[in-house]
Amino acid sequence: MRAVEIIEKKRDKHELTQAEIEYFVQNYATGNIPDYQAAAWAMAVLLNGMTPQETTDLTLAIVASGETINLSQVVPVAVDKHSTGGVGDKTTLVVEPLVSACGLPVGKMSGRGLGFSGGTLDKMESIPGFRVNLTTEEFLHQLDTVGLVLAGQTADLAPADGKLYALRDVTGTVQSIPLIASSVMSKKIAGGAHAIVLDVKVGLGAFMQILADAHTLAQLMVDIAHLAGRKAVALISDMNQPLGHAVGNALEVKEAIETLQGGGPADFKAHCMEVAAHMLTLGGLSANKADALKLAGEALADGRAWKRFRELVIAQHGDVAYVDSPELLPKAKFIEVVSAPRGGYLAGIHARVVGETAVILGAGRAKKGDPIDHAVGIEIHRKVGDYLENGSPLFTLHADDEAILKEARLCLLNAHTWSDTPVEPLPLFYGVIE
Ligand code: URA
Repeated sequence: MRAVEIIEKKRDKHELTQAEIEYFVQNYATGNIPDYQAAAWAMAVLLNGMTPQETTDLTLAIVASGETINLSQVVPVAVDKHSTGGVGDKTTLVVEPLVSACGLPVGKMSGRGLGFSGGTLDKMESIPGFRVNLTTEEFLHQLDTVGLVLAGQTADLAPADGKLYALRDVTGTVQSIPLIASSVMSKKIAGGAHAIVLDVKVGLGAFMQILADAHTLAQLMVDIAHLAGRKAVALISDMNQPLGHAVGNALEVKEAIETLQGGGPADFKAHCMEVAAHMLTLGGLSANKADALKLAGEALADGRAWKRFRELVIAQHGDVAYVDSPELLPKAKFIEVVSAPRGGYLAGIHARVVGETAVILGAGRAKKGDPIDHAVGIEIHRKVGDYLENGSPLFTLHADDEAILKEARLCLLNAHTWSDTPVEPLPLFYGVIE
């Protein structure tokens, strides 16, 4: 078998066999196939697609490129969630302690932000001391003793995905449904979750911009999970405007803490409750969604979810004083409230522009390995459909550089669009694939 023949076959729109996919992935992971051939192959896949069978074979080949974790050693059922990436998406910070507090252990491997979309590890590292690099033994021990882990993916888990994802990021091949599905599902399968809730984002601030594509991606991921013997549900959720108000690492941690303590923005809280309810049902703790919502509502209201978050921070060596008093978290030098330049109904808050502005401020990284500033970010004060008076607070900028603050102000004012007539609020969800 030769790599070039596999590339040509995909270029010419033919279906690859399981053996060809395994050969390509294995040899790419071990360095026998160079990046330039993998880049050509990824572009051929992006342009010509893959059948569900090819995508499943690709997923399992990526899983086989590294070690797999057997969570059954420590817990009977482990649930996990995965978001395909968005702006202001701090759902994991609330949902994981909430579900764990209800009695379902959660061991999650998360990622870092890349481009306009944020990452859970960066957010948690706003808390001084918080360790995200755990060994497999530490991960399993904490899942057993605390019932909650939030760590980075170990280098040994689906290593072909790490390599391929970095390559896709710089070759314009991220936005491919089979490549996204295999990337996400290989990590979930290798990570050992028995039940997985997939949060597939759709809209201006998501990889999938069209609802039909989001549906296809969601269905494909659920099918792959089933073929791998896992339970899965996919929610299709809105990412046209940021989720909640805060965008930026420490700001998002603060908003998650507020939500865990019973406050927080209404849209974010409702989103978290829905995701948690699906996790509880899929994990077998609740008979149906109504029961699950009740269970999650109680764990939030009586402080158990917040208590579990504190336990997580302590277990991973974070300084709990910072979450007990979130005003201690990193703070930007310049904080400016920007007012609405006109009155009217908010017609749009372009999520991708908001995410890109957060990167300009320093909250995200333009390329892998760039340093980030945990303090900076944006607070969006209003949501699509809201009516505002001219001059009322529209957003707050948190910046460490005055020139960048000016640039960010302009970008964000342009990200807001207006209407003189009433505008429907955006839905939180567009569908569920069971
Ligand atoms: N998230 C992933 O893990 N992989 C992708 O390809 C896209 C989003």
